[in-house]
Amino acid sequence: MDKLGIYIHWPYCISKCPYCDFNSHRLKSYDSDEWLKAYKNQIKYFKEYLISQNFKKFNLTSIFFGGGTPSLMHPKLVEEILLCINKLFNFEKNIEITLESNPTNLELNKISDFIMAGINRISLGVQGLNDTDLRYLGRTHNISDTLTILNLIQNKIDNISVDLIYALSCQNLKTWKKELKTFLKRFPIKHLSAYQLVIEKGTKFYDLFNKGELKSVSDSIYKQFYFSTKSILKDNKFDQYEISNFSKPNFFSKHNSIYWNSENWIGVGPGAISRIWNIKNQRVELENFKKPSTWLKNCLNKTVNLKKITKVNLITSEQEILMMGLRLNQGVNLNKLQNKTFLDKIEILNLKKEGIINIKQDNLRINEDFFNVHDFIVRKIINNYQFS
Ligand SMILES: C[S@@+](CC[C@H](N)C(=O)[O-])C[C@H]1O[C@@H](n2cnc3c(N)ncnc32)[C@H](O)[C@@H]1O
Ligand code: SF4
Repeated sequence: MDKLGIYIHWPYCISKCPYCDFNSHRLKSYDSDEWLKAYKNQIKYFKEYLISQNFKKFNLTSIFFGGGTPSLMHPKLVEEILLCINKLFNFEKNIEITLESNPTNLELNKISDFIMAGINRISLGVQGLNDTDLRYLGRTHNISDTLTILNLIQNKIDNISVDLIYALSCQNLKTWKKELKTFLKRFPIKHLSAYQLVIEKGTKFYDLFNKGELKSVSDSIYKQFYFSTKSILKDNKFDQYEISNFSKPNFFSKHNSIYWNSENWIGVGPGAISRIWNIKNQRVELENFKKPSTWLKNCLNKTVNLKKITKVNLITSEQEILMMGLRLNQGVNLNKLQNKTFLDKIEILNLKKEGIINIKQDNLRINEDFFNVHDFIVRKIINNYQFS
């Protein structure tokens, strides 16, 4: 039985954060019925596509509402989408159904309705642990909003994940460590994604950085923040199962693990991407129109149109298996690769000798003390690396 995940993209937010390069736009108004129709049409389209690719039986292990800010969706819209998926797909017994939520007053009164609709995991965009950091990140909430919403939802739902962004130029390491420890003591969350701030092309931060009006932190400061964060989470009994992801036992993200393990998923909504292994064991990528109005128009048609369907070439898809798998603490089984000619065996032996990577019974993994240089290691062991 094949494993499958479904990603649903909601492209709207209250405002655009200056660091964010996700496909997210300021919310004006939207017609909930039109969006439901488009989502349903596209979900049906993918079900038929999977059948055409000989997927007779597949178990749906996860659904992820991401964005944008999907907690701005009407709970009824979420419920109807879940009912539609339930009709068409076989849900695994312990299916994980996540909704990304921002910790603002708008979300406060909707959480119970989302849970009633079928959501069993909330990924809360806490981002900063004090008001200075939140202002720096251009967030619309403050720390007191975060505490209020966490106090409320921790009695309603067990599986809470929190997103944090750290290593900001305005941050002090000692303060960050203290705040993180206090936060973890106060809220017994099950999962945490801790991202170092990346200044992404096309964002407001990128322009400010180029004009010299925004600083980034040096590599050595990055490293100190990274290792301190990792160590505090370890002291609080979190497993670092991926470079930026930490969980209590059995609370790892099932959905994101599908991406890291290069399994099958379908992406519904503007700009969402699907990746499927077809009958011939080729990786196929299905890409949606990115602009919300274009996507909507193409999914309201009788025949749903996608922007592009591409067969990914073997070397690219194998390099992706390796690059994504090496993000995981468990590493990647080299038997997943049909073609290993792009591996630089001499570099692999050198890195192994230096204790940077490990190979046991065909399983290759990065020693977790070197996770922070994952990119550098991947580039070393892959000849003619084809990813940007
Ligand atoms: C789709 S966004 C989150 C959605 C939600 N609207 C929110 O803002 O909380 C997913 C996560 O990526 C992280 N992220 C986005 N841009 C980032 C950047 N430039 N650097 C580091 N992390 C980033 C944030 O932690 C964010 O929660
Ligand atoms: S970080 Fe979240 S809230 Fe901010 S613009 Fe991006 S998706 Fe929207």
